[in-house]
Parts: sequence; C-alpha cells; structure tokens
Amino acid sequence: MKKNITLFLLIFVIISCKKNTKNLGVISEKGMVVSAREEASAIGISILKKGGNAFDAMVATELALAVAYPYAGNLGGGGFMVYRLNNGEIGALDYREKAPLAASENMYLDSLGNVIKGKSTLGAMAIGVPGTIAGVFKAHEKFGTLPIEGILSPVIQLAKKGIIVTKKQEDRLKKHRPNFKKVNKSPIIFDSIWKQNDTIKYNSLAKTLLRIQQNGRNEFYNGETADKLVTFIQENGGIITKEDLQKYQAKWRTPVVFKYDDLKIISMSPPSSGGVCLAQIMKAIEPYELDEYKHNSVKSIQVITEAERRAYADRSFFLGDPDFVIIPIDTLISPNYVNKRMSTFSFNKATASKDITHGNLYISESDETTHYSIVDQFGNAVSVTTTLNGAYGSKLYCSELGFFLNNEMDDFSSKPGEPNMFGLIGAEANKIVPEKRMLSSMTPTIVEKNNKLFMVVGTPGGSTIITSVLQTILNVHEYKMGMQEAVNQPRFHHQWLPDVIKMEPKSFSEQVKNQLIKLGYTLDENNAPVIGKVDAILVLPNGKLEGGADPRGDDTAIGF
Ligand code: DON
Repeated sequence: MKKNITLFLLIFVIISCKKNTKNLGVISEKGMVVSAREEASAIGISILKKGGNAFDAMVATELALAVAYPYAGNLGGGGFMVYRLNNGEIGALDYREKAPLAASENMYLDSLGNVIKGKSTLGAMAIGVPGTIAGVFKAHEKFGTLPIEGILSPVIQLAKKGIIVTKKQEDRLKKHRPNFKKVNKSPIIFDSIWKQNDTIKYNSLAKTLLRIQQNGRNEFYNGETADKLVTFIQENGGIITKEDLQKYQAKWRTPVVFKYDDLKIISMSPPSSGGVCLAQIMKAIEPYELDEYKHNSVKSIQVITEAERRAYADRSFFLGDPDFVIIPIDTLISPNYVNKRMSTFSFNKATASKDITHGNLYISESDETTHYSIVDQFGNAVSVTTTLNGAYGSKLYCSELGFFLNNEMDDFSSKPGEPNMFGLIGAEANKIVPEKRMLSSMTPTIVEKNNKLFMVVGTPGGSTIITSVLQTILNVHEYKMGMQEAVNQPRFHHQWLPDVIKMEPKSFSEQVKNQLIKLGYTLDENNAPVIGKVDAILVLPNGKLEGGADPRGDDTAIGF
C-alpha cells in the first residue's frame, strides 16, 4: 500500500513538473530570440553573443528564416518591425511590398468585371515588389553595429549545410505540392517528397545571399539578382520591372502608441491595420473588469468579441497605405469614439454584425506569416512580422535565386465593395494603385510598463493576428500568466464578418460554449485548427527574460 502511495506521489510530481515545464518558457539573463525555427533563433543568438545588438540579430534572424522556413520566411516578401531602444526611443519600419508600376485597379477582373479566380493569389501576377532586403539593410544602416559580412556568414553556411525537415514541414510541403507543380513551369526543389529528418540544402539561395553579402542591398534591387528576378517574373507572365525594384524603398513610420491601464502599447501603424485595430479593441475593453470575469469566461469572451466586431467593422473602411489615403487614426483610437461604438453592447444578447454600420470587411485568415521577437543584452527590443502572404506565397519559386515570391497583391481589394475569392471585401482606401502598399493585419508590438520594457509580442495568422496579440497581452496583464503560459492558452477570434466566433477546437468548455450560443453567438470550431503562432518575450520582475515560443508550430526560444 505504502509502495502504491509512493508511486502515486511520484507520478503526481512528474505530471505537475511536466505541466509547469510546459507553461514556463526558456529563461535567460541577457538576451533572447524567439522565432518559428530553432536554426533561426540560434543564429540570432549567435550574433548577440558576438556582441551584436537586436538589429544585427534581426538581420540574421530574418534571413535565417528565409532559409529555414520558406513557408513564410523570405527574400521575396516583406514585413514590419517595431523597435524600442534601451533609452526608451521607439520607432517602426515598413518594408511592406508595393504594387508594381504597371498595376491597376481592375487588374484582377475579367471583361465582365468579375474577379478572376487565382490571379491575385497564384503565380507571377500575384507578386508585390518585395521589401525584405530593403528592410533589413535599412534597419542595419541606422542601428546595426556588426558588419553585414559577419551577420550573413552563418546564414549562408546554414543554407549550404541544409535544414532538417520537421514533421510539420513535411505535412505543409505535402499539402502545397500540387500548387507548386501547377504554378512552376520547371520542377522545383520542393517537388521532391521530403520526409521528416531529411536535409534540404539551399545552394542557389546560398549564392544569392553571398552576392548580397558582397554587394549589399543594391544587389537585390539593381544588380545581377535584380536582373535575374525581373527576367524570371516576366517570363512567368508577371509585370514587375527593373524600375519597380530600383524605386523600392523601405520607410520609417511612427508607431501607434496608446495606454491600457498602466501599460504603454507600441504597435505597427498603417499600412498595417494591426496597431489601430489593437488600440480600438483595447480601448473598448479597458473599462470592463476582465480580471474579475476570469480568463476565457463567457463575460470576458463577450466583451472581447464585441470590441473586435466593432474594430474590424472599421478596419478596411478607413485603413490603407497612409502615403495614399488620409487615415483619422487619433479619432479611431480615441476613448470617446470607441466608447460610443461600444454603447450598443449588452451582456444580455450578442450584437448582430449586420447591425454594425462602419466598414466593409471580411478577411480570410491563415497562418502563413511569421513573427520573431528579440531582446538584446543592452536592453534593445525588436518585434518583427514578415510574410509572403499565403503559404509559400504565390507558389512561384525562382530556382536560380532560391526563393519563393509573395502573393501579397491579394491583400489589396481586388474589387472594392465586393468579396474576392478569399473573402476579402475591400473599400476605396485599399484599392490597387501603382506603388501603393496593400493593407496588412501584421501587428508586431512592444509593451512598456512603468516606462520599462515589459513585453515583445507578435504572431502570424492573417486577420487573427490582431486578436492573438491582444489575448496574449491580456493573459499576462489581466490574468497574471507568465509568457509561455500566455502563449499556450486557447484562442478565439471575431472579425465582424462572418458573424461567428472562431475558436480553437476542443479548447473551450461545453458550459462556456453553450452559454455563448444561448446569448446569440455563433461558434465555429471547424475552420481554425490553430489561431496564431505567437512568439514573445516577457521581462520578469527580476529583470530576467522569459521566452514564449508557440507550441502550435516548431517555434523555439533561445536565450543566453
Ligand atoms: O499582411 C497581412 O495581413 C497578411 N498578408 C498576413 C498574412 C498572414 O498572416 C498569412 N498567414 N497568416
């Protein structure tokens, strides 16, 4: 009997430890990189260990993801960075793709004005002018401390040595292989059946990176790589020209900044909708006692859902590229405006989305972007979300250069006012114009508490990006979770239309779900097996860093 009790206690201790281990992220003293692949986090950390700062590590991590995570990491896409220096200075970098000069408002419509299926998502016509190389060089030029050569060397080595295929990667490649074959005229490396533990070597990508290492940013926008890229895109029926590449510039932007209780949230400004939407939602829920309602309770889900519904209804009506449209950001995120929007909310009954007037939006969601968070040993922080848009972007792979091209043009409204094949309904603010940037949901975010760095957070997930970032911040702030625990929690999402709460399956109690249904909410557990893949860092009260790497992917936190 005694033996049995001892055994029982032992099992209990093992189970408890396991649970704790799972909920406690990697802890480090000095620096931390959390990204979608262990190889990329490791290279980022190696740069910090060499004395580089968060921006040096950003360049390395971003390009290492282009090697190790071709699903979303890229040379052929774009992204956004939000940063906070150790002296409190903040800023944002926009290296979002742009519409080519030859783009036009109706380029995805047929002669009857109908959207041509697949034209904005598959193949060369879907490509926006890539921004990633311009972005990393712009960040490095302003803040980098190590020479580019040393930063790129381990990345080039990684491409040559190759990447070990994970189970998740094997599954993703299998799923998208038919489209690789459909889009590409010649066989590509990913046509082969890659299995878990195989090694994929990226020799062409290594050569491209080597030329970029030697010749810098202009190699991509005006050099041999530019020539090869333009020839390739045009041979495949695309409209991007050398002039498009030559004219591309990444831009410094002013981040969206707002208060939530005692937190200061710093997030991405337009052309991402992320910061504005996050601010609208957080200002709307601030007056409610979420902590008293408890985590993922009926009442907290109601308040968050209703705030999300209203913010997303505004999103595409008002937002677009600030270089082309005037955006009333201050009004949109002011407590007066937001509280007025919430005045129609009651705990007794769900608001119907059809009764919410602003906006014309329905965004499809997916999780093919990628986010990484970095804090360096000097206290600088960067939060970066980067994407090809869909999984492997347009599926068009330039074998000679070794990378996929984005299908970011699909983030424009192909036909203002009507849904396109992926459910996007656009408005005037996001119509296609040459050289314009398409509206995004990417929400790289940094949180301050008591004027100090508190959290670095972000995620992929299309329209669910904003609500995943929101829930992660709330899990830490309202529900007092640690970073990993906050990342692990089940997530839900509402985006005005369709009028449903998407929920991660088998994650919410029957009781909570039944009560929500009774109150008039429609729940959808079938279309979002995972919502977001959050990679985040929390500064603990003792000054140490806790990484939160999302177990929904192969994401990994490494510290030192
Ligand atoms: O910029 C955007 O909002 C989208 N292109 C992001 C796409 C994304 O997150 C894809 N997978 N989630």
